[in-house]
Amino acid sequence: MIKTAIITMSDKGYNGQRKDITGSTIKDMLPEDRYSLIYYKVLPDEIDTITKELIYLCDDLKVNLILTNGGTGFSKRDVTPEATLEVAEKLVPGFGEAMRAASLKITPKAMLSRGISCIRKETLIINLPGSPKAASENLEVILSAIPHGIDILTGNATECATPNT
Ligand code: MTE
Repeated sequence: MIKTAIITMSDKGYNGQRKDITGSTIKDMLPEDRYSLIYYKVLPDEIDTITKELIYLCDDLKVNLILTNGGTGFSKRDVTPEATLEVAEKLVPGFGEAMRAASLKITPKAMLSRGISCIRKETLIINLPGSPKAASENLEVILSAIPHGIDILTGNATECATPNT
């Protein structure tokens, strides 16, 4: 099972001014036979708070996957990619490339998401945009590739170079 955390970045959600629908939208998209959601939190758009939380989830809780949503745009308070970069050991550009390429077929606004993906220790961190529509459209694109990536990251799959895989 893929130990998963969902973190929603939203000042309004954190202050109780808005219900977090995106977090549960993401949860509902994760097949229950592969993913176990062990952690969920709404955080304010504060870089130090987000960075600390990501380090805790990677180094202490040792989750395999962190799906963040929100805080990837252009507003002054949007700092999720910067916090993610702070904790990154390796960048994983393919997820962002795939999500933006597919999303551009839906809306030109897709290029406004600055979300990144990275690896820290044995955790994959993926930034999704914050609206339920945007998050689900993006997650849909990458969902099928995540389990194999986690298997390689955690040492449960070593061989990718066999013919036809
Ligand atoms: N991607 C898809 N597939 N669909 C969308 O509707 N919205 C965009 C973009 N990515 C969108 C999308 C918009 S309008 C913004 S501002 C950015 O994601 C950043 O969103 P965030 O600040 O909520 O993270």
